[in-house]
Amino acid sequence: MPPKKKSAYTVPKLKDFSAAALDEAVQNLLAAVVREAGEVKNELEWKTFRDRWMARANGFLTQVNTLWLKAAPKDAKRDVGQRVNEVKKRVDETIAAALASMQSTASTSQLDTERVDITLPGNRRPLGAEHPVIKTMNEVVRVFRNLGYSVEEGPEIETDYYNFEALNFSPNHPARDTQDTLFIANQESKPLRERLLLRTHTSPVQIRTMEKMKPPLRVVCPGKVHRNDALDATHSPIFHQIEGLAVDTNITFCDLKGTLDHAMKEMFGSSVRTRFYPSFFPFTEPSADVQISCIFCGGRGYRDGGPCRNCKASGWIELLGCGMVDPNVYGFVDYDAKKVSGFAFGMGVERIAILKYGVDDIQLFFNGDVRFLQQFA
Ligand code: PHE
Repeated sequence: MPPKKKSAYTVPKLKDFSAAALDEAVQNLLAAVVREAGEVKNELEWKTFRDRWMARANGFLTQVNTLWLKAAPKDAKRDVGQRVNEVKKRVDETIAAALASMQSTASTSQLDTERVDITLPGNRRPLGAEHPVIKTMNEVVRVFRNLGYSVEEGPEIETDYYNFEALNFSPNHPARDTQDTLFIANQESKPLRERLLLRTHTSPVQIRTMEKMKPPLRVVCPGKVHRNDALDATHSPIFHQIEGLAVDTNITFCDLKGTLDHAMKEMFGSSVRTRFYPSFFPFTEPSADVQISCIFCGGRGYRDGGPCRNCKASGWIELLGCGMVDPNVYGFVDYDAKKVSGFAFGMGVERIAILKYGVDDIQLFFNGDVRFLQQFA
């Protein structure tokens, strides 16, 4: 049962217009308006309260006008009029004050419900991080930037000319077959050199760079390359390479050896040794494969009482291809092969990352599994 309300106020008719009787009536009225104002809890209640007192048609103030002022005998009118004016003022003020206090309690209760507990732990937003391949690429690029190399990039969709021909792969050169090239379909009507393919290495950027810059030049060219290789733990049809090219006067194989030996020590630690093994690339002569002493067994070939699996007990790990730029290549870019010489090298980024971080499957780099990627953040 709701508590019984005090009987509601009504404006009395006055029979006695003496000062004392008027005082009492006014006091009762003001006590009533203050009491009702104190009971207002929300905007709806306030509006009802306001209408009850102020409504033009039959609000209490209108009733006061008719029941008190109009009904007053002539000689009392002046006195009644003054009191009625005073009553109107006080009622106005009380109603306005009720509104203000109602609004301020409403807003404190809103503050209460929306209070923030600043001692709670915050929301942690996951931060992105460099992908291990990009991280490794940036690390290698930094090693060469410190040697004064600048960075060049080229397109992933290349022409046969840049990917093969200008790199001294003649049209039927068997070396083309060693790179299982992905060609773009339906280009048979174009001359071979204009046909588009997905670049199989970053070496075409060597040609593009030499077309735009005159020697001396030293550049590294990081980028994505594509080959028609089946997926397995060590092969991926998409991978990344970093190409290097230095052309100047009097560059020798010693410069190539010194540069790469330094770079390998920067990348894998100062105790790493390098070895240059004869190899073949159409665009370098002579060519070499660079091997580093095995970083797992320290080059000993055995580890934990058995043969080292990482270097197949040889103590060496093959890491990149390199060589002196073949003079035929200079012919394609208008360099004077009699005046300049240079070296080039190319390395696989995933291969470096696999060795550096001990990753056992190249696919992990491309699967996008956060549990793997988080370890590099
Ligand atoms: N482009 C070669 C490859 O992908 C690597 C290489 C680059 C070799 C530069 C020599 C000089 O196998």
